[in-house]
Amino acid sequence: MILSIESSCDDSAVAVTEIATRKLLFHRKISQEAAHAAYGGVVPELASRLHAVDLPRLLEAAKPYLDDLKAVAVTNAPGLSVTLLEGVAMAQALSIAKGLPLIAVHHLKAHIFSLFIEKEARFPMLVLLISGGHTMVLDVQDFDRIEIVASTMDDSFGESFDKVAKMMGLGYPGGPIVEKLASRGDPERFEMPIPLRHSPKIAFSYSGLKNAVRLLVQKHQPLGDQARADIAAAFQKAAIDHLLQKCRRIFKEKKPRDFAIVGGASANQAVRRAFADLCAEFGATLHLAPLEYCADNAAMVGRCALESYARGAFTDALTIEVMPRTNKIF
Ligand code: KG4
Ligand code: ZN
Repeated sequence: MILSIESSCDDSAVAVTEIATRKLLFHRKISQEAAHAAYGGVVPELASRLHAVDLPRLLEAAKPYLDDLKAVAVTNAPGLSVTLLEGVAMAQALSIAKGLPLIAVHHLKAHIFSLFIEKEARFPMLVLLISGGHTMVLDVQDFDRIEIVASTMDDSFGESFDKVAKMMGLGYPGGPIVEKLASRGDPERFEMPIPLRHSPKIAFSYSGLKNAVRLLVQKHQPLGDQARADIAAAFQKAAIDHLLQKCRRIFKEKKPRDFAIVGGASANQAVRRAFADLCAEFGATLHLAPLEYCADNAAMVGRCALESYARGAFTDALTIEVMPRTNKIF
């Protein structure tokens, strides 16, 4: 079995995966969302201290499996440095104390493997990754052949939902809140700019859209319930139309047979509907992770680590690096 640890942002999670069968034997997660809600976003220092409390608790719950482990896996990049360190320190201690090989897992790659929990991996696949930290299209040929086709020039898709929620005083994380609000709003009442609409760039940008929302919010003070819902609806539509416009261009060039959406924001139903239509238009099959594994979790870290284990790709426990900002996937 492999024990896997996730602490790249505001979720502490531990999983145990059986190597021979890929079976997820144990998975437990403690989310810090409520602790950060008061601040409208993740406070790294607070997140780090909560991981220091919660990770040992999760390890204690995984105790029945500890004598059957063949390896320990941990997310070491990218993410918040002070939170990654908490998981890595626990993984180092376990690896050294029990003499187990250590597997360093890239968080973005783990999100890709959320598609294959308890399943065989199937590549090639074109993957849209939308989370709080990233907005990317990845051409995944294989476990270690991944090309970044497009990425964001500023904010990420999920982050823009968080910021819009914060501007309207709605709490954190903004994604599910804004999505719910948007479902009872009129997306046509306010005009929103679709980012990079006239640009030939194959890239994403969310800072301009965020500013457009800021101006609308200022203009319509005090914000009534309906205005909030209409702004949320117009924002969400523009945010998704932007993804669609750029992905349509990528579809035309790459003609993917298999397309997937992963990351916390892939839980958004409007995103799912929009891409189901795009895939139908291009004859591609749409793949999605089960809802419970869209947001950060340790099951996807363990699933990704199975691939490293099979390849004997281990990392030295004394010198494992934490790389908060790297996008380099292998
Ligand atoms: O993958 P994830 O759990 O953490 C990162 O790796 O960043 O993604 C969290 C992000 C947050 O920004 C959250 O607001 C966003 O995903 N998110 C959503 C939805 N659910 C979560 N964004 C839009 N619509 C949603 N339903
Ligand atoms: Zn993530």
